[in-house]
Amino acid sequence: MNLSAIPLTTSSHLIDGKQIAEDIKAEIAAEVVTLKAAGAKVPHLAAILVGHDGGSETYVRNKVLACERVGFASTLLRYEDDISEAELLAKVDELNHDPEIDGFIVQLPLPAHISPQKVIEAIRPEKDVDGFHPMNLGRMVAGLPALLPATPSGIVELLSRQGIRTSGKHCVVIGRSNIVGTPVSILLAKNLDNANCTVTLCHSRTEKLAEICRTADIVVAAIGRPEFVTADMVRPGAVVIDVGTTRVADATKKSGYSLKGDVNFAEVAPLASAITPVPGGVGPMTIAMLLLNTLRAAKGEIYPRRLN
Ligand code: GUN
Repeated sequence: MNLSAIPLTTSSHLIDGKQIAEDIKAEIAAEVVTLKAAGAKVPHLAAILVGHDGGSETYVRNKVLACERVGFASTLLRYEDDISEAELLAKVDELNHDPEIDGFIVQLPLPAHISPQKVIEAIRPEKDVDGFHPMNLGRMVAGLPALLPATPSGIVELLSRQGIRTSGKHCVVIGRSNIVGTPVSILLAKNLDNANCTVTLCHSRTEKLAEICRTADIVVAAIGRPEFVTADMVRPGAVVIDVGTTRVADATKKSGYSLKGDVNFAEVAPLASAITPVPGGVGPMTIAMLLLNTLRAAKGEIYPRRLN
C-alpha cells in the first residue's frame, strides 16, 4: 500500500481556526464560572501597547475583547512612541508587582529606540503569558512545565483538535523567528501525543528550499513574506499551516488593505489535504492560547504565586 497517498486528516479540508479557538474559549469561560463560584478572583490580563501601528492596534483590541468574552478582567495601557526605554521598563515593573494582574504582554514590535529583548527579560516569568521570556523558552526546550508561546502552542493544538496525525511525520517549518519558527520547530519535535514530528527548520539562507518543502507531510509557513509558498513547493496531500499576516495595499477594500498569508492560497489549497485560511486560521488560536496561559498564570499552575 502506498502510505504517502493516505491523507493525513480525515476531517474537512479547510481548517477552521476560528471555530477551534471558539471551542477553547468556551472551555476557558466555563473554568472562569467555576473559579467565580469558588470565590476566587477572575483572571486579569494586562496589555501594553506603544505607538499606533495599525496591525498592533487590531491585535491588542482583539486580545482585550477576547478577555471580556471569557469573563476575564483586562487592562490596556497605551503609551506614545516617544516613551523612553527606562519609562517602559518602569511600567513593566509596576505590573510585575501588581497583585491584581495575573499576566501581561507588551505588544511587539516596539519603536527602534527600545530593546524588545530588554523588555521581555524584565517581565517576571510567572506573568509572561506570551511565553517569550528566556526562562519560559528554556523550560519549554527542557520539557519542563512552562508558559508556552501562544502561536506555536496554538499550531500544535490546532493540528491536534483537527485530528491531524503528527507522530513520525516530516514537518518543514519555514522561518526561524523567536516568536514562531524556532519555538514551533522545538514543540513539534517533542515526545508528546500531539507532536513527535521529524522537523526541518528552513530559513532565508536554506539551499534547495522548494525541494525540502516538497518532502514535507506538514508545512508551517512563518517567514512573513506574502504568498511565499507556491504550488511547486508542496507535495499533494500535505497539510499546510499558514502563520503569515501581512497587510498589503488593496484599493478594493474599505480598510485600504487586505491580509495576506505566507502561502499562495489559490495555488496551494487544491493540492493540500488540509490548509488554514488567512484570516481565520492560526490568528484566532494565538489569542485563545494567550487566554489559556493567563488562566494558568492566575491558577499558579506553572510557578508558585508571589504576593507582591
Ligand atoms: N506581535 C506579533 N505577535 C505577537 C505576540 O504574539 N505577542 C506580542 N506581545 N507581540 C506580538
